[in-house]
Amino acid sequence: MNINVSNFRQEVSKVRLSKSAFDELLNAKNTFEPDIDDSRFDAKPAYIEPRHSPFLSEELRNIRNMIDHESHVLILDGFKVDNLASFKSLVWTFGSLLGAPMVQNHLGHKVIEVYDRGGKSIEDGARYHQTRQGAYVHNDGVSDPLPIDYLILACGQKALLGGESILIDASAVYAELMAFPDILEELKCDFFFENRGMAEEEQLFKAPILSFSSEGIPLIRYFRVYIESAHFKAGVPLTRSQSQALDFLDTVLDQSTVQHRVLLEPGQVLISADNKFLHTRTHFIDVNAPRAEIDDAETLSDLNRYMLRMWLRKQ
Ligand SMILES: [Fe+2]
Repeated sequence: MNINVSNFRQEVSKVRLSKSAFDELLNAKNTFEPDIDDSRFDAKPAYIEPRHSPFLSEELRNIRNMIDHESHVLILDGFKVDNLASFKSLVWTFGSLLGAPMVQNHLGHKVIEVYDRGGKSIEDGARYHQTRQGAYVHNDGVSDPLPIDYLILACGQKALLGGESILIDASAVYAELMAFPDILEELKCDFFFENRGMAEEEQLFKAPILSFSSEGIPLIRYFRVYIESAHFKAGVPLTRSQSQALDFLDTVLDQSTVQHRVLLEPGQVLISADNKFLHTRTHFIDVNAPRAEIDDAETLSDLNRYMLRMWLRKQ
């Protein structure tokens, strides 16, 4: 198996759309913006005719290639707009051109707003994106048996303090665990997972934590709290060797040698292959008191830490 472990400590590549491609994106945004107030902004995917948007088509192809076959992660810079409605529309247009947006909750939403609502904790059943908690390393594709090809996290506003993104390459994790073959074997066996927040009806499914793509690249599926909760609901407690394997994995994930930290600035969009990169964030403190709802007319610079998240599949 050919695993490249020399890459994971490199800087996350930063790229920017060319002026021509960005203008084509803005055109598409203006074309696809819903003019009826009661339809959600993520109801209809954008579409471009490659002949009419040649720069954007080519640059989207390059981004897909980098995520699929090269770095598996990158930061796209330059998504600066004034108000929230414009930001939502820009990110939706870009995301729905990059891939096919997936539904992310039981309400059918394809873009999720990530900010602290000031409500309950993850331990009490909240989904991660509604809190300001850090420390749980995970990938997002834990709630669905099929993987997410492109995870998008677009920064509208950063926190007053903290809220760094921590990225961990599954290849680096695998390389560290090669010294512990029994642990690796355990992680390649099935664990229970749950579809938390994805449907009214709760469903459990089984999948391994570590697996490999057809090209031999390590793939990962992990969110310890969700796995423990799924095992509890299934009435199948984790065995001692499963718990031990998770402890080894958590300890590896805690090492600086596998972690890469970035603080996303407003207008930056993190794109990663969700099944090849785990992520988490550090705790954060916002400027203002948390709110459950934010009005679309608000200026981005007035907001607390605010991100938009999309899950995409290759088209
Ligand atoms: Fe996440």
